[in-house]
Amino acid sequence: MDITVLGSLNMDLVTRVQTLPKVGETVSGISFETTPGGKGANQAVAARRLGASVSMVGQVGDDIYGVELLKSLRSEDVYVENILTSEGMQTGVAIIGIEDSGLNSITAVYGANMVETPAFEESLRQSVVGADVLLLQNEIPHRYNLIAAKLAKESNTVVIWDPAPANEQSIELADIVTFITPNEHELAPFIGDFDVDVDNVELILNMVSRLDDSFSATPVITLGEKGVAFVDKGKPKLHKAAPVDVVDTVAAGDAFTGALAVGISEGLELSEAIRFANLAGSICVQRHGAQIAMPTRSEVDEQLLGPQ
Ligand code: RIB
Repeated sequence: MDITVLGSLNMDLVTRVQTLPKVGETVSGISFETTPGGKGANQAVAARRLGASVSMVGQVGDDIYGVELLKSLRSEDVYVENILTSEGMQTGVAIIGIEDSGLNSITAVYGANMVETPAFEESLRQSVVGADVLLLQNEIPHRYNLIAAKLAKESNTVVIWDPAPANEQSIELADIVTFITPNEHELAPFIGDFDVDVDNVELILNMVSRLDDSFSATPVITLGEKGVAFVDKGKPKLHKAAPVDVVDTVAAGDAFTGALAVGISEGLELSEAIRFANLAGSICVQRHGAQIAMPTRSEVDEQLLGPQ
């Protein structure tokens, strides 16, 4: 099970508040901490903790955050030799506010993640070939995702693209990759701008079918507490999620996508891989943080199979 993740590394600067401030308002926070994040690195840690062998391809700046992020990934046993340090650049940061209700707001400044150099392009070309599964998101230059997806496709690698954050310019990838995993808020670039009512099962199933007809990738849409809508052997399906106490939804999508990659690389049927991934996401939302909230294999297996 070799998984390559091409994507972002950010230091998350997280404030917890009772209620997120409105524009022009100042509120007094409850706590502040810096924790490793970035959608790419989060997915790498998710997949590694679930038992895959994981290589991360990305870029950090030559600052203390870059050093800390690499150290943290190394401690998780993720292969980091294909992460380049960009001289004179800042490491990506995400300024995250989380309120008591669990709602959050994120401002990301991508810094080194967005640097384009021949050296990085060469490094990613070398690293994507040969993996069982390649994971992509939307926090690095789109051009690099495109190069990696095309190379992976040529070598029959399964490509899972988490189109987050939503980006109109990137949808051509949906005709190259194997699976796309948007959440309900990231659908607009694919289906047009309308409110998705996650309570309307019929509408959700219609939409997932429409997505399947419009692009060659198989859609797997995460709907938070409502579950996951997907197309299996041509049929739209809804995997219902069991209710849990949500404390923090940051990186829940990353837990899901990293786990989906593990399930697929282990040869699970799509519906089984989604069940596995959904459990990983639901454990993640019951904890604070991004990488630190990713579940281990035994935690997910315990939910799947009961105590061993
Ligand atoms: O998906 C969660 C991640 O998005 C955070 O860790 C933050 O870095 C942002 O990129």
